[in-house]
Amino acid sequence: MTNAASIDRARLLSPAEIRKKVGEMGQWFHNINLKGVQTAPDHFLGDYPNVKWQRFEHVIPRDLEGMSVLDAGCNAGFYSIQMKLRGAGRVLGIDYDDLYLEQARFAAAVKGLDIEFRNLSVYRVAELREKFDIVLFMGVLYHLRHPLLALDLLRQFAVKDIFVFQSMLRGSGEIEDLEEDYSFSEADVFEGRAFPRMHFIEKKYSGDPTNWWIPNRACAEAMLRSAGFRILEHPEKEVYVCGRAEPDSSAHGCIPSWLTGGRDD
Ligand SMILES: C[S@@+](CC[C@H](N)C(=O)[O-])C[C@H]1O[C@@H](n2cnc3c(N)ncnc32)[C@H](O)[C@@H]1O
Repeated sequence: MTNAASIDRARLLSPAEIRKKVGEMGQWFHNINLKGVQTAPDHFLGDYPNVKWQRFEHVIPRDLEGMSVLDAGCNAGFYSIQMKLRGAGRVLGIDYDDLYLEQARFAAAVKGLDIEFRNLSVYRVAELREKFDIVLFMGVLYHLRHPLLALDLLRQFAVKDIFVFQSMLRGSGEIEDLEEDYSFSEADVFEGRAFPRMHFIEKKYSGDPTNWWIPNRACAEAMLRSAGFRILEHPEKEVYVCGRAEPDSSAHGCIPSWLTGGRDD
């Protein structure tokens, strides 16, 4: 069914029909208001992700007319919907979980918004052969076994201009200037609270076996810089708005070409 046909059908649904459909679509992570029906009213983080969005929406342009947006790891499309409501032209949400994508398509249709949702892993963004004015990468990094690879791929193949990033952070929130290099005998620097540090979760964190790597603040910022992003704004503890910069020169050529079907950019 085309987006237009789904929108026409969904618009006719009553709140009772929406409630029934929402209930049939499994557990929702995004709490979205669909004609008065909340999709995740008992979310453990409250009215999520709206509470997060309220803390950084002021740094996203109010008028996105004509802009293209990629929402990588879109879940049920809360952020894709916000981008479309601000007038973005093309909005593409990708996720590797069909249940979430079904929720996203339904939520956008009920809201009458033409948004494309596609099953695609973030590791496969090179296949899109398209760069986007704004790329959102919210709450996904720590769910990846290969987080820096994902940042490298997004920087190289998907981000035309602005990259909006959020990660769960754990450990110290301190930032300290580090030297460009240290001698082999220097070991104390690694003990510092502000040294970039990634926490590896072998089993589970918060009951979730897909939490793999949780950075501290210094690590998240260092990874962004190393992948070729310039931090422009830090409006919320976990959120960064970045522009493009040159990737760390020593990272050049680190994406194996067999991963990208031979594509370079
Ligand atoms: C914690 S949710 C965050 C959802 C949303 N971006 C937000 O900030 O509210 C993580 C999402 O990333 C998706 N995800 C995890 N690994 C992925 C991958 N390799 N490719 C695409 N999506 C992925 C999950 O299916 C899930 O929808």
